Amino acid sequence: MGQAVSADHKPLLAGKVAVVVGGGRGIGRATAKRLASAGARVIVVSRTPAELDEVVAEIEADGGRASARVGDITRFEDVQSLADFIREAYGRVDVLVNSAGASLIATLDDTTPTEWDRIIDTNLKGPYLCIWAMLDLLRASNSGQVVNIASKVGLTGYKLVSAYTAAKAGLIGLSRSLSHELRRDNVRVVVICPGPVDTPMRWAATPHMDPKMAISASTVADTILFLVTLDSAATAREIVVEAIEYDEQAVPIEASQPPVSSSSPVFG
Ligand SMILES: NC(=O)c1ccc[n+]([C@@H]2O[C@H](COP(=O)([O-])OP(=O)(O)OC[C@H]3O[C@@H](n4cnc5c(N)ncnc54)[C@H](OP(=O)(O)O)[C@@H]3O)[C@@H](O)[C@H]2O)c1
Repeated sequence: MGQAVSADHKPLLAGKVAVVVGGGRGIGRATAKRLASAGARVIVVSRTPAELDEVVAEIEADGGRASARVGDITRFEDVQSLADFIREAYGRVDVLVNSAGASLIATLDDTTPTEWDRIIDTNLKGPYLCIWAMLDLLRASNSGQVVNIASKVGLTGYKLVSAYTAAKAGLIGLSRSLSHELRRDNVRVVVICPGPVDTPMRWAATPHMDPKMAISASTVADTILFLVTLDSAATAREIVVEAIEYDEQAVPIEASQPPVSSSSPVFG
């Protein structure tokens, strides 16, 4: 993809430092590539080094600049060490995208306390930890931007995804609150609520969904680029982006037995 440029033909994010948490796959990966193509220096974060190395190689092959940091955002020490690395290397964060997520498709009976914690820790506590640990870096930007990836289901709710819905609704609430609180620091906080997105995890979650109901990961990435390059006097606190054909009630969804664990599928 060609570079996104401003009216004076400079890349839109030239000189900016962007952290994409969950940048190894899916939406995060597409976003890391899109922000790099607009000139940002991108740091991609996830738990799988091989995937991060692939993203960095793809960005560099395209003429962009990127580096990888391995970490688990549910672990405070990992997030702290990520923030320390960025503080030392760049002294600021201009764009933080929280795209790491995990889901569980299960009845409430099968939503064990351990699984509940995993879903809340990944989708809600993780983004909180990342924002909290990087607050000084976002403030240092003087035009910091946080983009949290929640889900349409966080606004609507749906059967068999109660823990995921609760986590995403919490992330929407956190984003709404911070969009007001951090305004005085020139930190803009927005939350994206996608419907189904065409990522491998999506098809693992709902294999029988009509493909017309999903949008591409690059559409979400384009939305994020739009949001982080919006005029600084404007905001778009909450964005729903979904396929025109998406009909939540028409998505076939079945609980797995036993409940899906570790690398589980994502539900929009
Ligand atoms: N796909 C959809 O239909 C859809 C719809 C609505 C919302 N969403 C949301 O969009 C976001 C991205 O979804 P996706 O489909 O792109 O998922 P994905 O393909 O599974 O990618 C998730 C990324 O997050 C990383 N990650 C997961 N847990 C992590 C942890 N504890 N610490 C650090 N990194 C972690 C994963 O890498 P590792 O596993 O290697 O760490 C991976 O790079 C999620 O928040 C999801 O809930 C997705």
